[in-house]
Amino acid sequence: MQRERISPRIAAIQESATLAVDAKAKALQALGENVIGFGAGEPDFPTPPHIVEAAVEACGDPKMHKYTPAAGIPELREAIAVKTARDSGYQVEAAQVLITNGGKHAVYNTFEVLLDRGDEVLLPAPYWTTYPEAIALAGGAPVVLPTDETTEFRVTVDQLDAALTPRTKALLFVSPSNPTGAVYPRAEVEAIGRWAVERGVWVITDEIYEHLTYDNHEFHSMPALVPNLADTSVVLNGVAKTYAMTGWRVGWMIGPLDVIRAATNLQSHSTSNVANVSQRAALAAVSGGLEAVAEMRTAFDRRRKVIHSMLSDIPGVTCVEPQGAFYAFPGFHGVLGREIAGRRPETTLELAEVLLDEARVAIVPGEAFGAPGYARLSFACGDDAIADGITRIAKLLAG
Ligand SMILES: Cc1ncc(COP(=O)(O)O)c(C=O)c1O
Repeated sequence: MQRERISPRIAAIQESATLAVDAKAKALQALGENVIGFGAGEPDFPTPPHIVEAAVEACGDPKMHKYTPAAGIPELREAIAVKTARDSGYQVEAAQVLITNGGKHAVYNTFEVLLDRGDEVLLPAPYWTTYPEAIALAGGAPVVLPTDETTEFRVTVDQLDAALTPRTKALLFVSPSNPTGAVYPRAEVEAIGRWAVERGVWVITDEIYEHLTYDNHEFHSMPALVPNLADTSVVLNGVAKTYAMTGWRVGWMIGPLDVIRAATNLQSHSTSNVANVSQRAALAAVSGGLEAVAEMRTAFDRRRKVIHSMLSDIPGVTCVEPQGAFYAFPGFHGVLGREIAGRRPETTLELAEVLLDEARVAIVPGEAFGAPGYARLSFACGDDAIADGITRIAKLLAG
C-alpha cells in the first residue's frame, strides 16, 4: 500500500496568504522592481531604543544564554499581569500568563489545549487567516459566521446564538480586528461576553491591537467587562504590534490555571522557552510607558485617513473607515468582471495578481480571510508608499 509522504492533517494546511504575498513582493523587490507592499501587518517603525538596549545588555550576560523556565521568566509573567491590569483592567496573577513564541504560538497553544476532535469554534468572518488553520490542526471545526458592511463587520449575538450546537466549544473574538479594522463598542463586547457565559461557550479573545484605536473608538477587554468569563476565557496578546517588535517573537496567553498548566506542558515538549534575550526585551517593553505606541498611532491615524479617502475615491471600490488596527478592507465588487490591462479578473484572488503584475502593488485577496470580493491593505507601511500605491491602483483600474 502506498503511504502518504505528508500526513493529510498537515497537507491540508494552506500557506499563509499574507506571508506569501509579502514574499512575492519582496522577491520582485530583490530583482530591482519597484513594488509597493500592502501585504504584511508590520509597523514600519524600528523597535524603541530602550527595548533594544535591554536586549543588548542581556546578550552580554552569560546567564541570559541559558534556558529559562518553559513558561517564561517570572519577572516577565509578573510584568504582563501588571500591564494587563493597567491597560485593560483585567486582574490576573503571574501564574495565569504563559510566554509564547509570538501571538501566533499563543493561538496554536490555545486551540490545542481546548479542542477535541469535532469541537466547533464560532469564527466571525472576515477572519485572520491563521485562526481556521490552527482550529483545524487541533481537530476542531471552524464555524464561519459571515459579516459585512451592514454591521461594519461586527458579528451579532443573534448570529452567534443561531450558530450554537451541542458541539460548540468556543468563540474566537478579536477587536480591533485583523483584517477589517472593526472595533466593537463596549455594550457589544459586554453583550457577547454575557451570552458566552450563559451558553457555556469559551471565549478566546485576541487583544494584540489593543492600543491601536482611532477617533472615539475604544478597546474593551471582554473578561474585564464580564468577570464571570475568567474561568472560561483565554486572552491572546504580544509585543509585535504595540512596540514594533514583530521579529522578536514574544507573545503570551492568559487563562485559568489549568489551561495555562496544560499549555505549558505542551510548550515544554515543543518549543520550550521563548529566546531568553527576546524575553528581556519584552520585559523592558511591557514595564515601560506607552509613548512609542502613541507616536505610531498618530502616524497610523494619518495614514488611515489617507488610504480610506483614496480608496473610496476609486470608482467601483467601497471602503468602511477602519476604526482600529492598521488595515483597510475595501470591497472590489464593482471592479470584478471588468477588463483591466487586457485581463478580466472575476475574483479578488485574480485581481491581486493583476495588480502585482501590472501595477507592482501587493494586496492580500479577501479569499485568505473568508471574504471573497474584498482585499486587505495594511497601512503600517510609509506615507509615501500609501500615496504611490493607491495612485497606481486607481490608474490601473481607470484603464
Ligand atoms: C489578530 C492577530 N493576532 C495575532 C497575531 C500574531 O502576531 P505575532 O505572532 O507576530 O505576535 C497577528 C499578527 O499578524 C494578528 O494580526
